[in-house]
Amino acid sequence: MGKLDGKVAVVTGGGSGIGLGIAERFAEEGAQLVLVGRTQARLDGAAEQLGGGAIGIAADVGVESQVKAVFDRLERVDLLVTCAGGAVFGTIDELPAQEWKALFEGRFFGQIYACHHAVPKMSDGGSIILCSGIAAAAYVPEYSGGAALCGAVNALGKNLAVELAPRGIRVNVLSPGLVEGTDIKNNLPPEKLAAFWESTVNAIPARRAGTARDTADAAHFLATCGYASGIVIDVDGGWTAT
Ligand SMILES: NC(=O)c1ccc[n+]([C@@H]2O[C@H](COP(=O)([O-])OP(=O)(O)OC[C@H]3O[C@@H](n4cnc5c(N)ncnc54)[C@H](OP(=O)(O)O)[C@@H]3O)[C@@H](O)[C@H]2O)c1
Repeated sequence: MGKLDGKVAVVTGGGSGIGLGIAERFAEEGAQLVLVGRTQARLDGAAEQLGGGAIGIAADVGVESQVKAVFDRLERVDLLVTCAGGAVFGTIDELPAQEWKALFEGRFFGQIYACHHAVPKMSDGGSIILCSGIAAAAYVPEYSGGAALCGAVNALGKNLAVELAPRGIRVNVLSPGLVEGTDIKNNLPPEKLAAFWESTVNAIPARRAGTARDTADAAHFLATCGYASGIVIDVDGGWTAT
């Protein structure tokens, strides 16, 4: 018997990378997965890989009406994990500010919209896991707006943990460090990526990037530990300890 038997788990960004790793971990524990992303074919492939009745629903999480339509299709939600989003990189003077704004629309407001529409479908025992990143706590070059976003998500999670506690809903934040094998690296031009990757790995005490499975192990803890709420977990190989 799995620890998440019979639970309905919505994972935004569940078609790839960290979100897919979490979906796999939850499916192994018996959860029924609802994957959300913009690309239906990618979601269908991931759902087939997961089995167990997993489904994919295409939606841009930065568009509230699309997020609402996802949750309108669901009778109840037990677990919500909000991994949808990407990254942009650039110095404050060079990167058009509009790009930071667009990042916030999907990756920050996407999490607000998902919580707004999921909470009415959640009952006692519900669990929300937001996704930020260690840029809130460690310097990441050319990532000022992303760092601000990560800090905002951490604050959102702590506040919601208090607000939703009387309803028996726990809220926590998963804050990954550098994670390999995901598509987010496509946001950096190849010539910058190699240097960024090498210098970052060298700065991590574990001397390696994390895997989606590493982050999924932390998400599994947050989903199953009934007394964990209001936590931000850095899964970063010790990066933020330096
Ligand atoms: N990898 C890292 O090192 C790292 C570190 C810290 C934080 N993070 C954060 O962790 C989250 C997952 O990233 P990842 O590394 O796993 O990258 P990824 O493989 O690119 O996963 C992101 C997923 O989100 C979906 N997505 C993106 N924008 C969306 C939108 N507006 N609406 C719906 N779905 C959307 C993408 O699918 P579609 O394109 O098909 O929509 C994709 O499946 C991101 O928020 C990322 O910023 C990653």
